[in-house]
Formats: sequence, structure tokens, C-alpha cells
Amino acid sequence: MDKGQLLYEGKAKRLFETDQSDVLIVEYKNDLTAFNGEKKAQEQGKGALNNQISSILFERLNREGISNHWLEQLNQTEQLVQHNEIIPIEVVVRNIAAGSLAKRIGLKEGRELAFPIVEYYYKDDDLGDPLINEDHIKLLNLVNQSDLNQMKEMALKVNDALIELFEACEIKLVDFKLEFGYDRSGQIILSDEVSPDTCRLWDIHTNEKLDKDVFRQGLGSVEHAYKIILNRLKGALSHG
Ligand code: C5P
Repeated sequence: MDKGQLLYEGKAKRLFETDQSDVLIVEYKNDLTAFNGEKKAQEQGKGALNNQISSILFERLNREGISNHWLEQLNQTEQLVQHNEIIPIEVVVRNIAAGSLAKRIGLKEGRELAFPIVEYYYKDDDLGDPLINEDHIKLLNLVNQSDLNQMKEMALKVNDALIELFEACEIKLVDFKLEFGYDRSGQIILSDEVSPDTCRLWDIHTNEKLDKDVFRQGLGSVEHAYKIILNRLKGALSHG
């Protein structure tokens, strides 16, 4: 598999063409950004950890019948994915109040929600990825209603699958962000990444934060936190 031209460079990943049509290489970077790029840093090993963690999670979601772009892990920092046209909506699912939800509607961080909350954000850096509702999505023509329904249904399935997997790792899945895209046949597939950069993950016993909030809030070593996630996932997988 030859690595071709750089197609796109984002905050945490680079996307390359390959010699196979519709197959791309994602390279996970060590860069960390928060607050819409205002806080920046690099942490050695972060890219490799997220590549391994997201490969484990995408593989599990595949087995659960949730179509996604991941094909295989290539090496420490790279994975092969299927080409897809990204839908410019970030879908956030929340099980426990934290982050912007806690702030926006005045819930105490850590409060368990009676049911999973699904939110949509418009993927637009200049606007700071604003929270949007179904009417905004319709007005902006970002995706049609039936595709939006499918994205929501898939996001809730991802939630069920990941809650179960992380519980086996003694980790609470607080919330996470997903992105979806259209494959060549027009099917909606899960895209981007699922990693501690895009999820909030707390230790079940101590509520220790083991995700990007470690960086956002200056709580210590991201590498240390993400290593705990990877090791527990590997442990859970080896026990069934
Ligand atoms: O900041 P907020 O509470 O809205 O984030 C909800 C979830 O979505 C968190 O897990 C966060 O890491 C993730 N997120 C993300 N990328 C963004 C915004 C939020 O991965 N641009």
C-alpha cells in the first residue's frame, strides 16, 4: 500500500491518498488542541495511543453492525479507512453532565442523565462549531431528515455498544462526539475517530478523568491517561 498525496491536515490527524481508490490513510498526530484551537500542545506518543484505541473501538463497532470507515490498523500511528464525504454535523451523545452541557443548562458535573441526550453542532471553525437543532439543519440543508434520523439512531447504538465495552474496563462513558459521512454508494457510515480526544472517560471508582479534559484542564499527563484507557481495553478484550 503506497502512501500518496496529503489530502487534508486537521488538528489531530492527517489524511493521505493511497494507490487504491476509495482507500485512505489516516495518520494520528501528537498535537493537542482545545477551545477551538486557542490552547495548543504536543505530547509524545499521543497519536500512537489514539490510533490503537480508535482501531479497537472501530473494530468493536464493526462487529456490532455499526458501519464505519475503519478498515485496518497499519502501524503505530496510521490506519486505513474508507473514503467518505463528511457531513458537517458533529453529533454529541451524553450520559452524564459535564463540559458545555453542565455549563449551558446549569447541571452539576457528574450528574447522571435520565436518558442519553443527543446534540448537534455545526462543523464550522469560523463560527466556533455552534449548537444547532433540527430546524437549523433543515434550513442550512446540511442533511435530510431521514439521514439525520439514521445518524441519531446510529449514535445511540454506538452509545450502547461503548457503554458496555467501557463498563468492562471499569470506565464511565460520560459523553462523546461522532462524525458521519457518505460512502461512494451513498450509505451513511461512522467516520473520523472515537478516542479519548473525542470522548469523556472517567474511572468508575474514582471519577479520575482519563480523556482530553486532562489537557483542557491542565490535570497532568495525557499520555499517562490514554495509556490507562488502552491497557484496560486490551485487558477487557483478552477476557472475552
Ligand atoms: O465540550 P462539550 O461538553 O460540548 O463536549 C462534548 C463531547 O464532545 C466531549 O467528549 C468532547 O471531547 C467532544 N468534542 C469533540 N470535538 C469537539 C467538541 C466536543 O470531540 N469539537
